[in-house]
Amino acid sequence: MPVETSSENRTWSLSGGNVSYVLHQDDQDHLLNLYWGPRLPAGSVCFHPEDYYTFASFDLPLSQLPLEIPVCGSGWYGTPAVGIRNACGDDVTSLRVISADVLPGKESLPGLPALYAESAEEAESLRVILTDDLTGLKVTALYSVFASSGAVTRSLRLENTGSAPLTVTSLLSASVPVWDGGLDAVHLNGAWARERRIIRTPVREGELRISSARGASGHEENPFLALCDRNADEFSGRVWSSAFIYSGSFMASARVDNFGHTRMSVGMNPDVFSWVLAPGESLCSPEAVMVFSDQGFNGMSCLYHALFRSRLARGVWRDRPRPVLINNWEGTYFDFNEEKLLSIAGKASELGIELFVLDDGWFGERDSDNCSLGDWTVNLRKLPGGLSGFSEKLHALGLDFGLWFEPEMVSPNSNLYRSHPDWCLHVEGRSRTQARQQLILDLSRPEVQEYIISAVSGVLSSAEINYVKWDMNRNMTEAFSASLPSERKKETQHRYMLGLYHVLETITSSFPEILFESCSGGGGRFDPGMLYYMPQTWTSDDTDAVERLKLQYGTSMIYPASSMGAHVSAVPNHQTGRSVSLKMRGDVALSGNFGFELDLTKLTDAELSEAKEMVSLVKSVRDLTRHGTFWRLLSPFDGTYTAWSFVSPDQRDVLLCVFSTLSVPNTAPLRVRLRGLNPAFRYAAENGSVCSGAVLMYQGYTVFLRGDFSSFVVRLKAL
Ligand code: DGJ
Repeated sequence: MPVETSSENRTWSLSGGNVSYVLHQDDQDHLLNLYWGPRLPAGSVCFHPEDYYTFASFDLPLSQLPLEIPVCGSGWYGTPAVGIRNACGDDVTSLRVISADVLPGKESLPGLPALYAESAEEAESLRVILTDDLTGLKVTALYSVFASSGAVTRSLRLENTGSAPLTVTSLLSASVPVWDGGLDAVHLNGAWARERRIIRTPVREGELRISSARGASGHEENPFLALCDRNADEFSGRVWSSAFIYSGSFMASARVDNFGHTRMSVGMNPDVFSWVLAPGESLCSPEAVMVFSDQGFNGMSCLYHALFRSRLARGVWRDRPRPVLINNWEGTYFDFNEEKLLSIAGKASELGIELFVLDDGWFGERDSDNCSLGDWTVNLRKLPGGLSGFSEKLHALGLDFGLWFEPEMVSPNSNLYRSHPDWCLHVEGRSRTQARQQLILDLSRPEVQEYIISAVSGVLSSAEINYVKWDMNRNMTEAFSASLPSERKKETQHRYMLGLYHVLETITSSFPEILFESCSGGGGRFDPGMLYYMPQTWTSDDTDAVERLKLQYGTSMIYPASSMGAHVSAVPNHQTGRSVSLKMRGDVALSGNFGFELDLTKLTDAELSEAKEMVSLVKSVRDLTRHGTFWRLLSPFDGTYTAWSFVSPDQRDVLLCVFSTLSVPNTAPLRVRLRGLNPAFRYAAENGSVCSGAVLMYQGYTVFLRGDFSSFVVRLKAL
């Protein structure tokens, strides 16, 4: 069983795959974390106080115990996992275990995204209840462990069973001692158009903290943190990691104490969060997923990919091949009419493209980004037959129809804003900071949620629409709801996220056949929370193929290829000014959900025929890129070459992709050593050459790349 209780040792071992996570109830009923690492036999870990205490008279016991849910006031000095200010104004809290039980499967979290199990055998859960007697605070710590991977999830549910209000000042979904020092940390850092670059840095005494206070997970950091042995690499060494299934402001930290012990924490950002729990009220934290690998970063990524692909993403599109699309954004921006769009669509249909996505500018009076967000009515000047007429014409060409929305926003120049100026996030008496000439609707308010549900649903019911791109193009300022009393104002950001999740759940479940893709100025909200509602995300507004190597490589740290939108755009590239061959642009994009984002009518005949071949190549490999195990082989962060591969679960089908940026003279041919093959199989390439799996893995596949920005893709199949 994944959760084994040892009454004698008062421990619970959560084990799966090659991993164990061991909790213990000590003599004073503190909940302790004794171990997280390679699998151990259940009941084999015991608590010995002498393993933890220095017995120096000045040191307080609670600063040295491996607390699983640290709280303030009696000797813990870090950020508390549960921070509570009580009605007397102090924050002293004492949590003692009062009961625990084991449950089959995994529960969902009310109103929040979370991993799920499809059968009771896949996962098992442990529910530990702790209370603070003086205030009546009840904490339910809900753990689940997945049998095949050993991934552990944790969420905390707080309930005020007392008679006076409590204020939650911090609530960390994971706060786990990693009983080692001398570790490195890895996180995904960036900015607009260069998201999720892999940063590796030694963790030293003190605290390393990444965060977002922007009301979105953000371009700047991703809600993910890993700690690893200093000598860990892609394929070996221990990695402890946590991803946060949430799309709003977050923090993740690694704190090394004065005894060299490290604690990893992940949760909502306490700088921009507090919550009043009136008597009888409860609050559930978002879920953290903790993944351990002793096979380096690639080992960790494989576990996340499998979970996020099929136990986080939901709906009919989870397991379907994703359509090859054409998006008009970089092709036309706002400057289009139906005739222009249909000329692109006509070419798209000739190439075998399956979906036409109409991006920003189809509604209200929107000819630039200065108006109309909130007014979701079609612009008949641009589309005289309305959305239904346009959709019919696309379908007659054999194309499905996709539509862009930015439902969380309002333009000051819009009918919606003129009717409801109080519906945006704002603070009375202060100016409303605009970004991209827009404000953010206050999704914490039920009437705003209802407006969005009804406006978007109305459009989706008005025509045959097969795909939605759900965009969000600015971060929060004046992030307070006019409808909340002063003591609850700091609840706004989290209430916004709960409101957004309600809206997304309602719309995606009402239109189950529509494929939804999330977006936020590219990848500004590429997080596990959004993947629960929409199985794919626009990776970045940077479509330059060279930059995309880093983008897709970094994103693959925890996100599967099936979640990444990847498009071929025009050259010179609109973000970098760089010109890269059509072949390389296609070879990079085929490793994600492939599309074009350019004006196809401007391609030469030769380019069109190359694009047509590309579409058929994509269709032939997309099952493999969606299901296959992804291996990072050569890093774009390390030099000229990048290589990755996809290997089918039965190891018989392989796609190797190799890229070179600036060519270097007089270099030896590149040998790429593959991973994850069966050494005994013999693999044949399309050109007839045959190699054993052992040779491909241990000696390598020799690749000749010439010229700047070149690429090589080969399919290898076991004979
Ligand atoms: C930002 C997105 O990332 C782009 O792809 C495009 O949809 C624009 N918004 C439209 O305004």
